[in-house]
Amino acid sequence: MDSSDIFKNYFGVFRDIIRTMHTTNSLEEVLNLGVKKTSEALRAKGALVRLLNETTQQLEVRAAWGMDKCYLSKGPVSSDKLLKWGNDGRKIHIITDILNASQVAYSQQAWDQGIRMMLDIPLSVSSKIVGLVRIYITELRHFSEDDLDFMITVAEQFACVIERLRLMENQKAQYNHLALHMEKMSSLGRMAAGIAHEINNPLAGILLYSSNLIKKVPLQSPLEEGLTIIMSETQRCKVIIQGLLEFSRDKEPQKAPTHINDILDKALSILNNEFFIHHIRVDEDLEADLPSMLLDENQIEQVLINILLNAGHAIEKDGIISIKTRMDAAAAKVSIEIADNGCGINGEEMDKIFDPFFSTKPNGTGLGLAVSYGIIRNHQGDIRVESHSGKGSCFTIDLPILPEASGKERERGLA
Ligand SMILES: Nc1ncnc2c1ncn2[C@@H]1O[C@H](COP(=O)(O)OP(=O)(O)OP(=O)(O)O)[C@@H](O)[C@H]1O
Ligand SMILES: [Mg+2]
Repeated sequence: MDSSDIFKNYFGVFRDIIRTMHTTNSLEEVLNLGVKKTSEALRAKGALVRLLNETTQQLEVRAAWGMDKCYLSKGPVSSDKLLKWGNDGRKIHIITDILNASQVAYSQQAWDQGIRMMLDIPLSVSSKIVGLVRIYITELRHFSEDDLDFMITVAEQFACVIERLRLMENQKAQYNHLALHMEKMSSLGRMAAGIAHEINNPLAGILLYSSNLIKKVPLQSPLEEGLTIIMSETQRCKVIIQGLLEFSRDKEPQKAPTHINDILDKALSILNNEFFIHHIRVDEDLEADLPSMLLDENQIEQVLINILLNAGHAIEKDGIISIKTRMDAAAAKVSIEIADNGCGINGEEMDKIFDPFFSTKPNGTGLGLAVSYGIIRNHQGDIRVESHSGKGSCFTIDLPILPEASGKERERGLA
């Protein structure tokens, strides 16, 4: 073959690989085509691709062509033996002394299949080696710079596919996690609504009868104390049931145009004393001129109070709560960030904090965040948290600027 034939040959292989890359989401399909075409172009006996399994740190065969089944059935090999590129800067390892090369795990089997030479090309993603392509040759042969360049380019394409598919896998996993969470919340909501309705009536009966009875017992009677406890505990149950009803989204928000900074001011004025007593400083960085928004003021205030109170509880004493509001005109939303430098939330708790009845506090109902989540979802918003154990947490609420409420924004062409 003259050099233009070689070039055409390599170009054809390259084009086929690229075409497959763009038409499939199957890593195996791209790799299998790649090893076959590359082997044919290089007149090799075969080739295989091994990828690193992050958990076992072993290299597993993910695609192969031309090699005998008994050779391929040898299973995964340790990565420290094969990934020997280190810092020597060379991109391809050419192995000629097969029987004595330390990076050849099954040298005798390869020799028995007529292999006399191997080429190892690393696969690296984000400058980390994640596998290798090995090409098997049946005679000792010289490879030109063009040949080596071709192999490196093919390996780079493989690495691109691996990276793209890994990103897709991550996104899919995140999406599944979110979908599972939404499903969990909605079935919990349905269950909570059922329980709350069932319990609400008997509770009202207990309250009615105990308040009638207490009026009839003589002053200082030992019955008085017991009845007072019954009434206050029943009242407590009613508060929890109210929370459950809100969590189950039974209560539709009564939305009206309002300003988020004003709601924040109101929530803070209620909590100022509490923070003052515990030496908690509140830093405010509120964006001026935020648009008016369609919100249920009472419900949003309830959410803010709960998050601010949680922040205060996490700090206990001597700390800072930072509050920030910002408008994202492009996304037509306003974000409220409430950060604290309190105890933070550990990884295990993080998955549960929005679950009803999850609380780490001796007197917490564990409904605060579950209710807040329901309220924010009912406003077509989003609530999320970032936290570092021992350092603090930051809750972010995104609320949409709904068209009806954003007259000012409409004038500016933002809604
Ligand atoms: N800012 C925060 N820092 C650390 N942990 C937090 C923070 N906010 C919430 N948590 C954790 O999430 C749990 C659930 O919070 P949630 O508001 O739902 O219930 P609660 O505060 O325990 O009880 P309630 O709100 O009914 O009084 C808390 O018990 C706490 O462990
Ligand atoms: Mg709370």
